[in-house]
Amino acid sequence: MDVLRTFGLTKIYQNKQVVQNIDMTIKKGEIYGLIGKNGAGKTTTLKMILHLIKPTKGKVELFGKNPAKNQSIFEKIGSFIGHSNFYHNLTAEENLEIHRRLMGVTSKKRTEEMLRKLNLMQYKDKKVEDFSVGMKQRLGIARSMLHYPEFLILDEPTNGLDPQVMKDLRQTLLKLANDYEVAILLSSHILSEIDHLSSVLGIIHRGRLIEELNYEALQEKKKRYLQISVNNVNKASFILENEMKISDYVICNNGLIKIYNSVQAAELNARMVDGFVEVYEMVNARDSLENYFLSITKEEDLS
Ligand SMILES: Nc1ncnc2c1ncn2[C@@H]1O[C@H](COP(=O)(O)OP(=O)(O)O)[C@@H](O)[C@H]1O
Ligand SMILES: [Mg+2]
Repeated sequence: MDVLRTFGLTKIYQNKQVVQNIDMTIKKGEIYGLIGKNGAGKTTTLKMILHLIKPTKGKVELFGKNPAKNQSIFEKIGSFIGHSNFYHNLTAEENLEIHRRLMGVTSKKRTEEMLRKLNLMQYKDKKVEDFSVGMKQRLGIARSMLHYPEFLILDEPTNGLDPQVMKDLRQTLLKLANDYEVAILLSSHILSEIDHLSSVLGIIHRGRLIEELNYEALQEKKKRYLQISVNNVNKASFILENEMKISDYVICNNGLIKIYNSVQAAELNARMVDGFVEVYEMVNARDSLENYFLSITKEEDLS
């Protein structure tokens, strides 16, 4: 059974569609990374899924049910959306304890376990009002996992965490997904922070889910290319297009061209020499996913 399905999820604020027609599906044990620039619509989407705000159009299904009619399904969900409410004049431990009892988790050990997991044990008696942003972030994540949720929704969980805590968090989330089949939906505006974690990556841009990539597709998108350095890029691009029928290439500065079509280096060189283009260098390389993300969100901006 799907843990989450959304159908044409849309939010309009002041005539502006900030989330447009999002259809997404998350299965058991899947880690779905929602990646998008600031203002793309991530938080709004997560809030609609959590029923914190009402969609203008579309609907959400959680565990195959309509959450409006089945409030109890929220017991299976853990979430942390930045700046979530804490009892600021209470300590970290007291905050978790209140949530534990509220959620009907009987073992007090669980609170300690979560404090430990998120590196908060030494701050357990500190009041939340004295917490830094990173500490609140960790406390929020600890609280979201306290009641053994089957579906975790975390908005920018890696925000404000130092690298070691981030690494620990990644491991914790992977373990939850692998060992307990917890489904996880998390968002970020920094691709590298969720890239290694996600089994599916959804790219949201200007409120639209413009691409969804599974693991295999993710690898594919870390595109391979042949980079050539030439004395005349205009002549070289003419030869590529007209003589070699190669269209998927990018001209960079300093006489560099990246060719994404698969091409025989020897043939390419011969054609260039025939056309009086000098090739100084040829290198096989691979784009980072970050570049891919930037390139597709840029294309979208232009269109
Ligand atoms: N309550 C609101 N009223 C009006 N506009 C809003 C409101 N909440 C968010 N927005 C706008 O919706 C867009 C998406 O916001 P948000 O979902 O917070 O993006 P993200 O989380 O990806 O940074 C932004 O342009 C934001 O200004
Ligand atoms: Mg946000």
